[in-house]
Amino acid sequence: MSVLTTAPALVGTDAPVPVRGGFVPYANFDYAASAPCLQAVADAVAQALPYYSSVHRGAGYASQVTTRAYEEARETVREFLGGPQAVIFTRNTTDAFNLLARALPHGTSVVVFASEHHATQLPWRRAVRLPIPSSPGEAVAAAERALRECAEGPRLLVVTAASNVTGELWPIHELADVARRCGARIAVDAAQLAPHRPFDATDFDYVALSGHKLYAPFGAGVLAGRADWLRAADPYLRGGGATRSVTVEGDVDWAVDPEQRHEAGTPNVVGAIALAAACRTLRDWDAIVADEERLLAELRDGIAALPGVRELSLWGPSHPRVGIVSFTVDGHSPRSVAEYLSDVHGIGVRDGKFCAHPLVDTLTGSPTTTAIRASLGLGTTQLHITRLLTALKTLTTPTP
Ligand SMILES: Cc1ncc(COP(=O)(O)O)c(C=O)c1O
Repeated sequence: MSVLTTAPALVGTDAPVPVRGGFVPYANFDYAASAPCLQAVADAVAQALPYYSSVHRGAGYASQVTTRAYEEARETVREFLGGPQAVIFTRNTTDAFNLLARALPHGTSVVVFASEHHATQLPWRRAVRLPIPSSPGEAVAAAERALRECAEGPRLLVVTAASNVTGELWPIHELADVARRCGARIAVDAAQLAPHRPFDATDFDYVALSGHKLYAPFGAGVLAGRADWLRAADPYLRGGGATRSVTVEGDVDWAVDPEQRHEAGTPNVVGAIALAAACRTLRDWDAIVADEERLLAELRDGIAALPGVRELSLWGPSHPRVGIVSFTVDGHSPRSVAEYLSDVHGIGVRDGKFCAHPLVDTLTGSPTTTAIRASLGLGTTQLHITRLLTALKTLTTPTP
């Protein structure tokens, strides 16, 4: 049972899924890829749709309603994030970091760890790549060294807040202090932190997240942060909505406001409304965190007790983490384990390298080895944990 007495409802909890010989309620352990939809999110979208219309430029009543809903959504997300200057709606975290990469002042030195998700690691044209650190302290020291060695000019440290492979929390506040001391800025990938922990985006220069990981699967994400570089940068997309005027000769006066400047074209209004509804719903953090930590401890203890099952970890078993566990099972390929869990037990996990190839290669010690990832969140129950552990036990216990 969940300890959340008023746990937010989800769409599709326990939906029946086929297994060999019948149907069972789905046990979803793939939250880190995409979390299920909050009922409040689905309700907010359903409520908005009857008046759904063009945004920003229509005079009709429905257009006014939709425009208001879109801009109110921005303010809700801003409040959820602690009040950053700019809140730009993007498609997802990948899109947000690509936008930021295009907005960097000329000559900016970027520093990034090789352990990052590809979305955080690849958008930069050139970056100083730091090796995967063996401790949080080493991460901070390596970042400081690298930032001090950067060429004169703007510097940006890019780091994930919670690993999508191990769930481990990175020392983002210490890294933000280091960045500040070195005259650099810090961009934080909060894709995996935001669904699990409250945080204040104004502690950092930039923050990116994805709605579909935050129980709002309608295709919106966010880049939030300081406005100056975003105001000065070329528009991310060139087109309608990002301009103040265009002359017959083709001279363009681009909007200065970062949101307008970087959101050309018709934005994802429904996605923004959905994301805002999730931000309004995720409020009872003490209960959310306590519930998750209890279930995660049970899952990790159970996995640790299984023969031949090895949890992947950067910084050891007691380092704080969110509800993500990656592991390997001796004698079984991760794909075969994932298929067995789905086909026989109706349990959804993920296998592969989770778009963090260098990190998984390092943690498994081999570029050809993949892993299984079980991730949890709102709606995960004790029964789900028991089902997963029982299924893994069946797989790992030799038949007499
Ligand atoms: C830590 C992290 N960063 C970035 C991303 C990319 O998110 P999206 O696919 O929504 O752009 C993911 C997705 O798995 C992630 O886990």
